[in-house]
Amino acid sequence: MTEFDEEKYIAEFCTKVKKSISEKIVISVSGGVDSTTSAALLKQANVNYEVLLMDTGYMRKNEIREVKSMFSQLGYNLKVLDKKKEFYSALTGISDPKEKRNVFRETYFEIFTKYLIENNIKYIAQGTQFWNNQSKIYHNCPTEMFNRQKLKVIEPVKGLSKNNIRKLAKKLGLPAKVVNRMPFPGPGLLLRFGGEFNLNKLETIQKATFIVDRFIEKHKNYFSECYQIFPYLCDCSPITYIDKNNEGMLGVIILIRAIKQEIKDNEIKYVPFQIEENLREKLILELMQLKNVGRICFDMTPKIGFGSKVKPGATIEYI
Ligand code: XMP
Repeated sequence: MTEFDEEKYIAEFCTKVKKSISEKIVISVSGGVDSTTSAALLKQANVNYEVLLMDTGYMRKNEIREVKSMFSQLGYNLKVLDKKKEFYSALTGISDPKEKRNVFRETYFEIFTKYLIENNIKYIAQGTQFWNNQSKIYHNCPTEMFNRQKLKVIEPVKGLSKNNIRKLAKKLGLPAKVVNRMPFPGPGLLLRFGGEFNLNKLETIQKATFIVDRFIEKHKNYFSECYQIFPYLCDCSPITYIDKNNEGMLGVIILIRAIKQEIKDNEIKYVPFQIEENLREKLILELMQLKNVGRICFDMTPKIGFGSKVKPGATIEYI
């Protein structure tokens, strides 16, 4: 396998995009490594571009503010479209996981294309598109949907592995926070709770995610091998727990999904990352401080890819 040459990739991308597109390109970003690197490539190419961040309402606590400030520090002019109300109302009453993803995608598409058409923009850029054969689309909107509206899609990091995208990000001078950021799905916290959307659930999963992220940051050496870790709020009957006042209470269950990469048979596998007892207990205690949270469970189900010979198994996300 030949080594990935970041400089060559950047130079070739810049020449190609500069030569082929003179009109304005809108790049929709989330603050993640794929879309931020894509934006940095457009900046490097010195083309006419605009950076847009859609506030879907399913971002993490303070995330919009942090992404906005990071882009401004990097010298970009970031425009935020606050569409929380639209997303919340579109997703109210929907509990089927596939339907949640579909409605999210349609809502995103409708709002985004409306903006593009109103502003007479034909070109959009976005991070990597990847589909698996279960129609789980890892993109807020697939290229095909935009093409139907005669919009043209550029994917500056198309086909690159996450590791190579991280190398590009570093070469382009993006901060370590972006380069090393754990994957976070486009539909965000919408994928991180079961059942119908309501503001209480969103608030609980937002707080739990904040606690887990802060915990990882505090113990970053220990978690350096962890590919992804996040909480998921179950949608099930309340369970019993004992609160700090020694009262018997009813509460919700939070699952912790922690994954690491392992090279086996020359292939990257994603397997559970086991947290040692001491840290696990600390994390449980922190999460149990949340109102109505009655139990913390650790998910040890192996991740398998579609088409894998080992069956059954699970995906990383729950939706
Ligand atoms: P699964 O759940 O399929 O996830 O094992 C594999 C990786 O992809 C991420 N993921 C997404 N990323 N939009 C994204 O940008 C999505 O809709 C999406 N769904 C899953 C997941 O977090 C994991 O890293």
